[in-house]
Amino acid sequence: MGPGQEEESPTEQMPLLSPYQMRPFRFSHRIVLAPMTRSRSYGNLPQQHVVEYYAQRATEGGLLIAEATGVSPDAQGMGLIPHTPGIWTKEQVQAWKPVVDAVHARGATFFCQIWHVGRASDMEEQPVSSTDRPIEKNEENYFIDFATPRPLTVEEIPGVINHFRIAAQNALEADCSECAEEYCCVECCSYQGKLHHLYILCPSFDYASFTLQIL
Ligand SMILES: Cc1cc2nc3c(=O)[nH]c(=O)nc-3n(C[C@H](O)[C@H](O)[C@H](O)COP(=O)(O)O)c2cc1C
Repeated sequence: MGPGQEEESPTEQMPLLSPYQMRPFRFSHRIVLAPMTRSRSYGNLPQQHVVEYYAQRATEGGLLIAEATGVSPDAQGMGLIPHTPGIWTKEQVQAWKPVVDAVHARGATFFCQIWHVGRASDMEEQPVSSTDRPIEKNEENYFIDFATPRPLTVEEIPGVINHFRIAAQNALEADCSECAEEYCCVECCSYQGKLHHLYILCPSFDYASFTLQIL
C-alpha cells in the first residue's frame, strides 16, 4: 500500500460480502445456498440429519433456500427424484421446525421451496401436466420410461392451486410460528419441466393468475 492510500474494507475487496437489501429482507452478504434436492427425506419427512446439514450452511445474515419440497402426495416423483420432503401434512411441518429453528439460531433466513414435478410425478393413474407429451429419454434420463401425462382440466386447476396455497401456509407456519422474524418467504420451483415451468411455456395459459391465486 502506497503513502496516502487507505486499506480497502473487506466488502470493497469482495462485493459478495457486502450487504444486500431484498425487501423486506436485509442480508449481510450475497452468498445464497441454492436449493438442492438431496433425496434423503424418507417417507417425505425431513430427517434429523437435515437439521445439521442446513445449520452447517447457515451464517449470520445469510439466506438458505431449502431443497424442493412437495405440495401434495401427487406432486412427488419417486422414479426420477426419490425421497424428497413434503409440506402438505402437519407431521411434515413439525419435522421442518427444528431445521428452521437451527437456521434461525445461526442468524440466517430460510426460504422453503415448494414444487409439483408435473410430468415426472408418480400419480396413481396418470401424471398431470400442461401437455400430453411424456418426458423424452436423453443422456440424463435414459433409465426411466416416463408415463404419458395428461393436461390438467380447467376444473382441476383450482385444486392444484389449493395444494400450493396450503403448502405455502404450512411452510410459513414452520418458518414463522416461533421465530422473531417479521417476514418469511416461500419460493415456487418453476424450472426444468416442473408443473409451473410448463405452464409458463404454455402460450394460452394465464400463468400470472395461476401464481397470484397461490399467493
Ligand atoms: C443435485 C442437485 C439438486 C438440485 N435441486 C434443485 C432443487 O431442488 N430446486 C431448484 O430450484 N434447483 C435445484 N438444483 C439447481 C441448483 O439450485 C442450481 O440452480 C444449479 O445447480 C445451477 O447452479 P450452478 O451453476 O452453481 O451449479 C439442483 C442442482 C443439483 C446439482
